Amino acid sequence: MANDSLTIRSFAKINWMLRVLRKRRDGFHDLETLFQTISLHDTLLFEKASETSLACDVDGIPTDGSNLVLKAHAILVKRHGAGPVAVRLSKKIPVGGGLGGGSSNAAVTLLAINRMFDLRLDVSTLGQYAAEIGSDVPFFLTGGTAWGGGRGEILESLPDVEGVSLLLVVPEETMMTGEAFAALGRTGEDDVWATGPGGWRGAVERGLLGDARLANDFEGYFFAKFPHLDDARRKLRESGAVVAMLSGSGSTIYGAYEDASVRDAAAVELAAPLRVVKTETITAATSQPFPEDG
Ligand code: C5P
Repeated sequence: MANDSLTIRSFAKINWMLRVLRKRRDGFHDLETLFQTISLHDTLLFEKASETSLACDVDGIPTDGSNLVLKAHAILVKRHGAGPVAVRLSKKIPVGGGLGGGSSNAAVTLLAINRMFDLRLDVSTLGQYAAEIGSDVPFFLTGGTAWGGGRGEILESLPDVEGVSLLLVVPEETMMTGEAFAALGRTGEDDVWATGPGGWRGAVERGLLGDARLANDFEGYFFAKFPHLDDARRKLRESGAVVAMLSGSGSTIYGAYEDASVRDAAAVELAAPLRVVKTETITAATSQPFPEDG
């Protein structure tokens, strides 16, 4: 059914783990990662309008054609004749923190415009457009807990890792994704061993938080560049986090707790001078704006 206006939540993600396998001829890197949708979210309001526009309630977010929301909309205008929309973005996901806020906004824009203009594009077509916009965008079309391969666009859904209490440390320092990949100095000859989706499915079924293979290849470069943030990671561990690790290419560090009350106490303890955000893992179904379209 087509709508004249839609309000949609746009959830953030963490990466439970991330291995960078090799550099490809197209300049991207093949990787292996485990994506996880979390409850922290932006909200987007889409309204049919005579002209396309984007407004955001926080400063420092580009509202021109460089914003991934407008890139996603432009693809569906050009290829499928979607009409103009006025978009209002209420931003809660920290920017430049490896939480995928811009990518998530782009994915929900594809879903919203598909719905509002009754384009009837299936998930695989939207997935191709999503991958053109950015490596992390396809994940947000389905969400939940998923294995990611290729440059992040090859996805396999895993059983939901549901209701895990998280504490995010969100530093002021930001990390550019391209810089982080380049710093690893991978070549086409490298071939880092990957576990594959089957192996991670088993890990999720056994209890992911206890899995000794959870690691992030960006940590070496990141903590060498920002040693004081290694202290923040250590504080998360000392506060009772079962896992404390960099998310994506940074700069957010997540702590995962078995007990929400331990996480809550840690949030109070770490809040000064660090910026911390309490959040939870959510299921693929909860992350979907239009589950019936899936
Ligand atoms: O796809 P996205 O725009 O998020 O990527 C930003 C940059 O990060 C790319 O231009 C590339 O330099 C690097 N990247 C990479 N391998 C990936 C994803 C990103 O080298 N799998």
